[in-house]
Amino acid sequence: MMEQLVRGIPKAELHLHIEGSLEPELMFELAERNGVDLPYSSVEEIRAAYEFSDLQSFLDIYYAGAGVLQKTEDFFDLTWAYLNRMQSENVRHVEIFFDPQTHTDRGIPFRTVITGIHNALEAAREKYGITSFLILCFLRHLSEEAALETLEEALPFRDWIEGVGLDSSEVGFPPENFERAFARAAEHGFRKVAHAGEEGPPEYIWNSLDVLGVSRIDHGVRCTEDQKLVERIVREQMPLTVCPLSNIKLRVFDKMEDHNLKKMLDQGIRVTINSDDPAYFGGYINQNFLAAQQALKLNENEIIEIAKNGFRSSFLPQQSINAHLESIDEFVRQVKNSV
Ligand code: ADE
Ligand code: ZN
Repeated sequence: MMEQLVRGIPKAELHLHIEGSLEPELMFELAERNGVDLPYSSVEEIRAAYEFSDLQSFLDIYYAGAGVLQKTEDFFDLTWAYLNRMQSENVRHVEIFFDPQTHTDRGIPFRTVITGIHNALEAAREKYGITSFLILCFLRHLSEEAALETLEEALPFRDWIEGVGLDSSEVGFPPENFERAFARAAEHGFRKVAHAGEEGPPEYIWNSLDVLGVSRIDHGVRCTEDQKLVERIVREQMPLTVCPLSNIKLRVFDKMEDHNLKKMLDQGIRVTINSDDPAYFGGYINQNFLAAQQALKLNENEIIEIAKNGFRSSFLPQQSINAHLESIDEFVRQVKNSV
């Protein structure tokens, strides 16, 4: 019953790095197609390298892997594979991150990157009815000037991009470094989100809210170290895009049983469940729901609320959100009638 509920319930995914959905098989195929040398001789060897001790140990491998992405069709194939997977997991809406600087810094034009991703999103809208928004992430280990240049490069594609985000190495790269870049983005009407409180302290969450003015916090799990911050997040119903398997793989928590997701839910925080970088962390969104559900003994109502939170926290218009919430209620009625 629980597995049927998780797999079938309509879902939204709000925290997914498209480069983090690059499966070893496709990495290998693209390396061959583009004549790129990989430091691995087989798909198994790539998978075996995915043992991480923290965020940075993952990022080193993730940025290296992205080197096989070169042409528009590569970005299309990457995004299309992810969206097919989402169709099979009953995900109806996605808001996906891309890291243009990872590609433009190695000479791949911005246009190449975004065209491939955008075309796949449009194809999934047509074929599956999956709706989507793109969120451009600035790499926080690079300078604010570089972020501002990237924002300029994005402007010809303004209509294809819903918002901006902030990702990469967190500790030592606080959000306030990007105050001007986020202010410029807001002038152009972009929504704002930021990774904060994954490895970094609660202060990074405060400043993402107060200095950057974000409307969602990505990860945010360290908020529970600061009761005043929790009270604010609850009062404002500020969504957190939590990624359970990622947090275990990157050792934010030792094991899933130690994850504070249920604690946050019990405190009234608007928690969502997402996959972050599923090709690297061992599971897509349904696996994240199931792993958290099993370890934390989430009940059916909690699973339903988390799925609803995904749509409530999305950038969809309120009317579409309401329609998705109704479709969840309808699905739950059907499942209950069938047992
Ligand atoms: N880039 C891709 N995944 C990330 C994560 N979990 N945190 C920060 N930057 C990332
Ligand atoms: Zn992330």
